[in-house]
Amino acid sequence: MDRFIEIKNLVKLYFGHGFFDRNRLAVRAVDNVSLGIHRNTVFGLVGESGCGKSTLARAILYLDPPTSGEVWFDGTLLGGLSVNEIRTFRKRMQIVFQDPNSALNPKMRIEESLAEGLINRGVTAKARTARIEKLLDLVGIAPALRGRYPHEFSGGQKQRIVVARALTMEPDFLALDEPVSNLDVSIQAQIINLLLDLKQELSLTYLFISHDLNLVAYVSDQIGVMYNGKLVELASADEMMANPCHPYTMKLFSSVPGKQAIDGPTANGNIGAVREKLPSRPSDCCLYADQCSIADRGCRHAQPDLHEIRKEHYVACFKI
Ligand SMILES: Nc1ncnc2c1ncn2[C@@H]1O[C@H](COP(=O)(O)OP(=O)(O)OP(=O)(O)O)[C@@H](O)[C@H]1O
Ligand code: SF4
Ligand SMILES: [Mg+2]
Repeated sequence: MDRFIEIKNLVKLYFGHGFFDRNRLAVRAVDNVSLGIHRNTVFGLVGESGCGKSTLARAILYLDPPTSGEVWFDGTLLGGLSVNEIRTFRKRMQIVFQDPNSALNPKMRIEESLAEGLINRGVTAKARTARIEKLLDLVGIAPALRGRYPHEFSGGQKQRIVVARALTMEPDFLALDEPVSNLDVSIQAQIINLLLDLKQELSLTYLFISHDLNLVAYVSDQIGVMYNGKLVELASADEMMANPCHPYTMKLFSSVPGKQAIDGPTANGNIGAVREKLPSRPSDCCLYADQCSIADRGCRHAQPDLHEIRKEHYVACFKI
């Protein structure tokens, strides 16, 4: 399988604001992350709030460009493109956020929201209408409702419309940033199944971000676990669920009731509950050392890198 997306040593730093603070490092939001996503697969990214999942997604799409590192998209190095070239290229990469309410302009009919990108591309009015109707139909919204406003739809319907809008540009990669966490549990499965159907039908590739381990295991081919800006474990979904190895991953998994039952999306595996105080970040220490029950002196004198412990199963820990 070829790697459709390849991330190499990606770093995203945020600096302070104001004259005196602007050179002061405030947050190392993504810290030297490398990963690959195969074409037409789902890469699931899990980790507690603030660990850098959304920042990584935005950096991959160059919505908030990385401080350093490389993003290769279908063989093209995004950092090597001009701003205009990136803009053109980005049509192939879209992002869907968790809150459909803030994603849709309440004053615009949904057909207007969907038409925006098509107008920018110079698509004629007749072709626009045909495309919008087709997309709405594809996501399970009756095309006849295209003249309605967002408030006339339920949360699940709005997220379907947001997905339709992301598809107007005919992308081949979608970053799905907690796409169902704002929805009722009963609706979540419908949206997830819609996303999986669309992936097959349109040959899409997904970066799927979630707090819900059961959900990530259900949808993903590969899973990456992030902690404090770093990828601490990376494996196929089956391998990760069967043999989680990093002490942080094991802690996440121990908080998930029924983690072995990977038979569909549930809300049980929400790992937001294990949020804890993030450690300070000395550069010569495993970032998990303060929380780790098996840490020893060596863990406080260097940072572990990801290394392969079994075929295509990588862990960043000195003791694994
Ligand atoms: N624009 C920004 N300026 C400064 N710091 C930021 C900015 N965006 C994110 N951060 C910081 O970067 C870190 C990672 O944030 P990010 O939103 O990527 O986490 P996350 O894993 O997506 O969290 P959540 O699960 O809550 O969505 C956090 O410490 C956050 O405060
Ligand atoms: S390197 Fe040490 S502190 Fe870090 S996770 Fe492994 S055992 Fe724990
Ligand atoms: Mg986020």
